[in-house]
Amino acid sequence: MTNPNGDVVARAAEGFTHQYGGDAAGRWAAPGRVNLIGEHTDYNEGFVLPFALPLRTVVAADRQDGEQWTVWSELSDETITFGADDVAEPGRVTGWGAYVAGVVWALREAGHQVPGARLAIASDVPLGAGLSSSAALESAVLAALLDLGGLELSPERQPRLAQRAENVYVGAPTGIMDQSAAIRCRAGHALFLDCRDESVEHIPFDLDAAGLAVLVIDSRAPHRHADGEYAARRRSCEAGASALGVAALRDVGVDQLDAALAQLDDDETRRRVRHVVTEDQRVLDTVALLRAARVRDIGPLLTASHVSMRDDFEITVPEIDTAVEAALAAGALGARMTGGGFGGCVLALVEADRADEVAAAVKAAYAERGFTTPGTVTVLPSPGAT
Ligand code: ADP
Ligand code: GAL
Repeated sequence: MTNPNGDVVARAAEGFTHQYGGDAAGRWAAPGRVNLIGEHTDYNEGFVLPFALPLRTVVAADRQDGEQWTVWSELSDETITFGADDVAEPGRVTGWGAYVAGVVWALREAGHQVPGARLAIASDVPLGAGLSSSAALESAVLAALLDLGGLELSPERQPRLAQRAENVYVGAPTGIMDQSAAIRCRAGHALFLDCRDESVEHIPFDLDAAGLAVLVIDSRAPHRHADGEYAARRRSCEAGASALGVAALRDVGVDQLDAALAQLDDDETRRRVRHVVTEDQRVLDTVALLRAARVRDIGPLLTASHVSMRDDFEITVPEIDTAVEAALAAGALGARMTGGGFGGCVLALVEADRADEVAAAVKAAYAERGFTTPGTVTVLPSPGAT
């Protein structure tokens, strides 16, 4: 039906015409993201530093009469329809449609009059690879519905609403990072987000000037119990914060870490706390280096973040660790898993002219261990939702 190799904007527009006839009133896009550093810190009210990918989800849409929403996605070449009853409370639409219905629900819950709409969705963001295809979908749908309905919601407030769709309607207990990245990132910059007050600073991340590239490696590792493990990590962090008498682990500084760890009596909570507290500091250190245009010096912080996720937070898997080790052995300046964990992607900071060599080394290490060949691509910090 649509040309799978065509441009994603054209695919959404053609999909719209094919499904509904006529042209869409407009097209709205939101990107996937990688997180440069700051993992599992967002729900601890700490710091993150994601940047948007050139890979985007595009929604072509127009209004339709009544409280009726019709959605086609290229992904499954399937059309779903839901009405006011289905968005009266969470959970009535399931599967991928829940991400779209969730946005309608969250807008209505916030008191907005959401227009009925017909939507066609195409995407270049791989699903379930830890690059936040779900936040890209929510953010693009939100942008479309806001414009079609002439609704006012500032970009500062949009991420919380999209997150609510995912937390409450879809039922995934994720933090604020992914939707913030999809909506608020800028080209050429990483987004330094304080997840407590949601203030942001756009930090220049000029890879070209430094002669560097970010190589993203899709581990292709099957997600093993990712949802349950993510929720378990959140619970450990909450238990740690409550044992330490702080509102969130963000309130423990690295200079207080030893004293804090001495107050905790189980080793697992101690290690979870140590990851979060040191990871927040690594974000701050990375930001300081980038502000000083010392891009190549962030490598060791990226690798230290990985070691902390592997040993203290225990969220990596053999494919992911193999990718990091092989990238470093092939000369990457730093490498780490990005995203929630238990699969997903690794990012490696590499000399621009050695990206192919590092990618080949990772593939060779995978072949040696009998793992499915990983996907590799170099990416530049790209714009947020448009
Ligand atoms: P991630 O957000 O890391 O890619 P998730 O498992 O959180 O992984 O979200 C992926 C889910 O989001 C998919 O299984 C699907 O339900 C939904 N989704 C994302 N993008 C699309 C799309 N373009 N069309 C339909 N559903 C999508
Ligand atoms: C993602 C989640 C984010 C963040 C991240 C780990 O899967 O959506 O909110 O917690 O994991 O840093």
